[in-house]
Amino acid sequence: MKPATRPSSLDFEKRKKDHIDISLREESQAFVDQFSRVELQHCALPEIDYTDVTIGCEVFSSRLKSPLFVSSMTLGHDGAKDINHIMAKLCEERGWMMGVGSQRRQLFDSHAYSECEALREQFPHLVLFGNLGLSQVIQTPVEKVQSLVDSLGAQFLVVHTNPLQEVLQDEGTPQFAGGVEALAQLCAKLGKPVVLKETGCGFSLKTFELLSDVGLAAIDVSGMGGTHWGRVEGLRLPEDSLGYQVAETFKDWGLSTVDSVLHGNHSSFSGEIWASGGVRNGLEAGKLLVLGASKVGLARPILQAALQGELELAKLMERLETELKIAMFCLGCAKLPEIIGKRDLWVWK
Ligand SMILES: Cc1cc2nc3c(=O)[nH]c(=O)nc-3n(C[C@H](O)[C@H](O)[C@H](O)COP(=O)(O)O)c2cc1C
Repeated sequence: MKPATRPSSLDFEKRKKDHIDISLREESQAFVDQFSRVELQHCALPEIDYTDVTIGCEVFSSRLKSPLFVSSMTLGHDGAKDINHIMAKLCEERGWMMGVGSQRRQLFDSHAYSECEALREQFPHLVLFGNLGLSQVIQTPVEKVQSLVDSLGAQFLVVHTNPLQEVLQDEGTPQFAGGVEALAQLCAKLGKPVVLKETGCGFSLKTFELLSDVGLAAIDVSGMGGTHWGRVEGLRLPEDSLGYQVAETFKDWGLSTVDSVLHGNHSSFSGEIWASGGVRNGLEAGKLLVLGASKVGLARPILQAALQGELELAKLMERLETELKIAMFCLGCAKLPEIIGKRDLWVWK
């Protein structure tokens, strides 16, 4: 909420480290009882063998072994390299796609490009996506954004729109005027597909409608139910500050991931709908696929596991895949197209 100042590399690094530390605290999580409302319809006669179940799919003509993905998290500070290395190694091995955190630092620090170039060089087969905030996209020529995407050899770009976070962040940039037009320009001119995501507050029906003609390849709703960026920004401030108190008021602001996916389904948006925000197991991922999402992302649980090392992250990824496959088996569905958006597979509880 301070007046905008020129960003510095030190501020950027400090903020990114704060975000990791605070998102690991329980108070950063907006627990919403959203998944228990959706009851999947058990099939007692699946007519398939468990080994028939496969979760392979495609993203914009790149092959994936799983619809699960590692949501955009970190980049541009000391700790980020090790975390991204572990996540990238396992994602490449297991055929998951993965995002890096905001590439904003590259807009004002040319040395920051090398981190992305090194990641791509080490993991040439990984499906990797770039990340930049909408308030930066509005102010940045498309050619410059293209250079960020190129530095990562990214298959596509994810733009995050996070009005609550920017307005509560002390050094935030709550300037979103012209956002829809900037997205339309980016989609038309960038040489790669563009995806728009929230960061934990979800998408309303009205927002989906505003975006129906913009040219986005997908929207990741990133709804409420997990890491909440109003909470995270509040927790960075002293308890007696105005910012902390205002953030407290908005700690449950947002639309849940389940509701956001349903809004997407009921809208005229024709791109893919992806889901993230509060997904903590493979059954929840299965529910979101049945509701109409075609990909499902996780952030905090992946970060927690990656910080414990490669073995822990591998165990988590295997558990998530297994849970998703068991849900599909018990629905009698062997392949993802048989479950995605299938209204006869669930009821409201
Ligand atoms: C430490 C951390 C850093 C994040 N940084 C970014 C970011 O740079 N860009 C972005 O689009 N989302 C960022 N996110 C948001 C996540 O991609 C995701 O939308 C959100 O955390 C909800 O998912 P979760 O409940 O599984 O954590 C970050 C999340 C975490 C936990």
